[in-house]
Amino acid sequence: MKVMFVCLGNICRSPLAHAVFDAKIKERGLEGRFETESSGTCSYHVGERSDGRMRKTASKRGVVIDHRARHFTASDFKEWDLILTMDSSNKRDVLSLSSSPEEAARVKMFREWDPVKGSLDVPDPYYGGAEGFEEVFDIVERTCDNLIDDLT
Ligand code: 4NP
Repeated sequence: MKVMFVCLGNICRSPLAHAVFDAKIKERGLEGRFETESSGTCSYHVGERSDGRMRKTASKRGVVIDHRARHFTASDFKEWDLILTMDSSNKRDVLSLSSSPEEAARVKMFREWDPVKGSLDVPDPYYGGAEGFEEVFDIVERTCDNLIDDLT
């Protein structure tokens, strides 16, 4: 199964979700069953490494983020089976590039798999402090566990 994680800049939330998902499928010996990628709905940060604050938070908690930002485009619909957006604005932007109901049906909110029910948005940590990055890590970690349980 091919899974794409999408946020706005592809330097904070979606590269974290991508890295955490990869680490967890590796831990479970499932890496042969998935192909993963992440991307952003805007192109401002294309080619950049992930935000240093996100990388630091992840590394403190045992996850290495090694990704260069890329832009989500309509051609990604040809490739990815499940497209998981970090917030509702990302979802709207991705859906605006879809060209059939079948493509649109492959776009879901990542937090639909959050076992803690509440908002479906992963909050954007970019303009806030360190605690925002910790909160994003907590959300992403528990959501990836539940997502992998569900997909397998
Ligand atoms: P991300 O966070 O969508 O989680 O990568 C952001 C990164 C950059 C910006 C906004 C959010 N920005 O405005 O440049």
